Amino acid sequence: MTTSAAPNNLEAYWMPFTSNRSFKKAPRMLARAKDMHYWTPEGRKLLDGAAGLWCVNAGHSREPIVKAIQEQAAEMDFSPPFQFGNPKAFQLATRIAAMAPGDLDHVFFANSGSEAVDTALKMAIGYWNVQGQGGRQRLIGRVRGYHGVGFGGISVGGLSPNRKIYGTMLAAVDHLPATYNRVEQAFSRGEPEWGAHLADELENLVALHDASTIAAVIVEPMAGSTGVIAPPKGYLQKLRQICDKHGILLIFDEVITGFGRLGYAFAAERYGVIPDMICFAKGITSGTVPMGGVIARKGIYDAFMKGPDHAVELFHGYTYSAHPLACAAGLATLDVYEKEGLFERARKLEPIWADAVHSLKGLPGVADIRTIGMAGAIDLAPSPVGPGKRGFEAMDEAYHKQDLLFRIAGDTLVLSPPLIISEAQIGETVEKTAKVIKAVA
Ligand SMILES: Cc1ncc(COP(=O)(O)O)c(C=O)c1O
Repeated sequence: MTTSAAPNNLEAYWMPFTSNRSFKKAPRMLARAKDMHYWTPEGRKLLDGAAGLWCVNAGHSREPIVKAIQEQAAEMDFSPPFQFGNPKAFQLATRIAAMAPGDLDHVFFANSGSEAVDTALKMAIGYWNVQGQGGRQRLIGRVRGYHGVGFGGISVGGLSPNRKIYGTMLAAVDHLPATYNRVEQAFSRGEPEWGAHLADELENLVALHDASTIAAVIVEPMAGSTGVIAPPKGYLQKLRQICDKHGILLIFDEVITGFGRLGYAFAAERYGVIPDMICFAKGITSGTVPMGGVIARKGIYDAFMKGPDHAVELFHGYTYSAHPLACAAGLATLDVYEKEGLFERARKLEPIWADAVHSLKGLPGVADIRTIGMAGAIDLAPSPVGPGKRGFEAMDEAYHKQDLLFRIAGDTLVLSPPLIISEAQIGETVEKTAKVIKAVA
């Protein structure tokens, strides 16, 4: 079968966020997937401890989702999203809006988290413009934040390697401090007690730049890519209050936290905080077909609905916005989440997951462990050679020797399994991770 066959030439493909040269020397190839597992082209079975890349929340190649995609491909492959509509796009938008809290009522579709972020940032600046406050152009992100790889996303993002060789990016940007402090928060389960005061830094940025220049603040409710940093208790609530006080829009980037990772459809629900926009991607289709998007509050949508009826209101969109395959996959995925109660399941598993992951405390080189929802991170002390080496070796060991797949962020091992994981498989994930940690110590 061509889909499973090992390629015989690895040179042409320039792999994203990958150490290309080491991969091509000892490839970590994945050729097939079902439920909680991947298979290598040679037929070796690996436990998926990462839900692919934070996205396969419903488990791999689930029949109802596969069938929906197949049927949609046969019925209508593509329809133009500009000036024409496909019925499933409206159905999916309606369902997503119904899942989102408050008056987050309008859904704009993109194809990835990066596009979702750039869409939200443009909407924020555009919103103030159409409201007659064009001076509000500044965007506030956060140190250690990850908002994808578009120029907007890396500008508000706070991970230095993703930014430093790419020039000036967006000009009017500033950053809140990261909320992680190992001395105060080491080995935290769930939201740490310490750190809500860090939201007050927004007051300092307002004092510096003036609220009249600030369009929006964007944060991940739980910073995933940098290595699972849960919001300190009260932090997001405080951020909302300060944004309200100064009329600043608050954007939650829920590309990872959306669709069950923290036990709710959105982290906004877990924390009882309603942002002005939510960015989503990944879990909406359980990773099967690329899709992302922005959910905007009614007031934001309404602000754009001006001018003559025939006029385009927002000059923004993608050829593949609301792609029929993605919409079909999204509807089928939401059905699976609902029928199998996967968000509630994540909520129930959270303490079991936390106990299991925290049991790794005390293993050689483990410097910190954090868990929140169905996510966990284990910080390993860096190798004497320098940062990143031990993490890389751990990922490589996991794939080649322990039949386990997880993500790394530097020397941090990041676990985020599909939400269908069984308790036995939680045990297996942690056992395999323990072997990896010992092997690379
Ligand atoms: C919070 C957040 N925003 C945006 C992105 C970018 O998403 P994509 O890789 O689909 O562009 C990611 C990806 O991990 C993410 O975690």
